[in-house]
Amino acid sequence: MTLVNEGCCPLDAKRKIGDRRFRGIFLDNPLRRLLFPPKKFLEGHVSKGMIVADLGCGPGYLCLPMAAAVDGGGRVYAVDFDEKQIVAVRKKAARNGLSNIEAHSGSASNLGFIPTASIDLVIAKGLLCCMLDHEGALREIHRIIKPGGTVYISVARFTGRNDQRRVGKEEWERILAQFRVQERGDGLTSRWAWVRKENAV
Ligand SMILES: C[S@@+](CC[C@H](N)C(=O)[O-])C[C@H]1O[C@@H](n2cnc3c(N)ncnc32)[C@H](O)[C@@H]1O
Repeated sequence: MTLVNEGCCPLDAKRKIGDRRFRGIFLDNPLRRLLFPPKKFLEGHVSKGMIVADLGCGPGYLCLPMAAAVDGGGRVYAVDFDEKQIVAVRKKAARNGLSNIEAHSGSASNLGFIPTASIDLVIAKGLLCCMLDHEGALREIHRIIKPGGTVYISVARFTGRNDQRRVGKEEWERILAQFRVQERGDGLTSRWAWVRKENAV
């Protein structure tokens, strides 16, 4: 896989495309905290003792509050292919005295460090539409999630038609069909869903 592009602009589609990187300030800033408070988003989905994986975690907008919420036996795997994001997560975790975050730089399509069927909740917010290997990431999500576990997935609605990272409407439906959908919606800028992996029979 080529990792050429450093930007987050739709014109990237015209360049040689790799997985997409973001500047931390776009992912964690006062405006986002106002419009999309992380604690409110996580309410009812995260509790003490859970094992969580935040795939494409960025600079820690969700994985830090999740680590605080699961503390007391729980743990968070924070994964991002952009090393800078992982460095930011580690710094913030240390600053906040959170020792239950395991931060890894690497692709969501290669999660060998997470045991099979070990995760209660996977968060993949804005991940798939930023990467090329959707199948690989979904294969890993299916592998690491416990039967009955929950997955949150969201993808950008508006990406260039020729952007190979794009998750179009049909692909989105195919992804959701792999799970039991709990709640779904179309926001202004993204499609999202809370889904469950069926219990093993
Ligand atoms: C739209 S941002 C979302 C960040 C975070 N989930 C949030 O909501 O704040 C997408 C993130 O996915 C990461 N990413 C892109 N391709 C990836 C890959 N193959 N594996 C893991 N992370 C990836 C980017 O570096 C970026 O941090």
